Amino acid sequence: MFSGVKPTGHLTLGNYLGAVRRWVEEDQHRGEALFCVVDLHALTMDHDPARVRRLSRQAASLLLASGLDPAVCTVFVQSHVDEHARLSYLLECVASDGEMRRMIQYKEKTAQAVASGQSVRLSLLTYPALMAADILAYDAVEVPVGEDQTQHVELTRDLAERFNHRYGLTFVVPRAINPPVAARVMDLQNPGSKMGKSHDATAGIVYLLDEPDVIVRKVKRAVTDSGAGVTYDRAGRPGLANLLEILAACTGKKPAALADAYAGAGALKADTADAVIELLRPLRARHAELSADPAQLDAILREGAARARSIARPVVDRAYRAIGLLPPA
Ligand code: TYM
Repeated sequence: MFSGVKPTGHLTLGNYLGAVRRWVEEDQHRGEALFCVVDLHALTMDHDPARVRRLSRQAASLLLASGLDPAVCTVFVQSHVDEHARLSYLLECVASDGEMRRMIQYKEKTAQAVASGQSVRLSLLTYPALMAADILAYDAVEVPVGEDQTQHVELTRDLAERFNHRYGLTFVVPRAINPPVAARVMDLQNPGSKMGKSHDATAGIVYLLDEPDVIVRKVKRAVTDSGAGVTYDRAGRPGLANLLEILAACTGKKPAALADAYAGAGALKADTADAVIELLRPLRARHAELSADPAQLDAILREGAARARSIARPVVDRAYRAIGLLPPA
């Protein structure tokens, strides 16, 4: 099992419900599991070095605060393990330019960069090769992600199959797994687009470290469609559907069943805000404790990187041999 989070912004409720929470509750207990702060991926758009460093520590700390337990899984930082970049290059030699350009995130982010007058970094195009390397270096079978990452995992499968076909069986072919509800949490102000940590407008984004009163304000101001009552209709009433899914994810109930229980959006918003605050309360407290002891975090990340390296090294060496590179004498 392998998954990762990119330190391009503060972690959001989308990251938590779509991915991290399941890593904690289920995935880390299902065999060898690695969870990574993928800092190299944060360099694909304009970035501030000090901020990336800060956000990388914060992301690692939030993963632990969420309940990833270094005694049962591996938590580490991507750039601490050279095998990711080593393998990425081989996968660039297997991937085609056309399939990289077809990635939705590439198209969206390229449009964003162009609109704000920035040049597009080449690494934005090759990003999915690095992501495939993250996964394939660990012989991962399952990749627990939110819905938006499914296309990248599909590409990873294609690259693994192509490599195996051309150069002999080398990689395990992984598959994406999504949570049953809240696999795509939407922006509260703009329920047509996903809640994303790197977005500029923050009013529709709940961050894991938001204070309770901020969460109440953001949820209360969530855009919901006019119309009578509360119904669960993702296409027709996306704002309400988003709140219902968030509440469902927090309470373990079904969104459609919850819709029946509400007469109007006001009460739904109040309950959703409360449920989110309660869900995040222990995480915030644990994050505060961890932040007070940076040496402990460093030690966990050091051990995590050593463990990750020991798994990835032989896999990547295997790929180097298979593709025709001369092993060092
Ligand atoms: P990232 O950092 O954007 O998101 C981390 C995880 O959170 C999920 N997620 C969401 N789920 C539901 N609703 C949302 N609004 C939402 N926003 C984010 C993402 O699907 C993801 O699971 N490219 C990846 C990081 C990555 C990776 C990997 C993941 C790099 N290498 C290898 C898995 C395996 C990314 O940008 O995730």
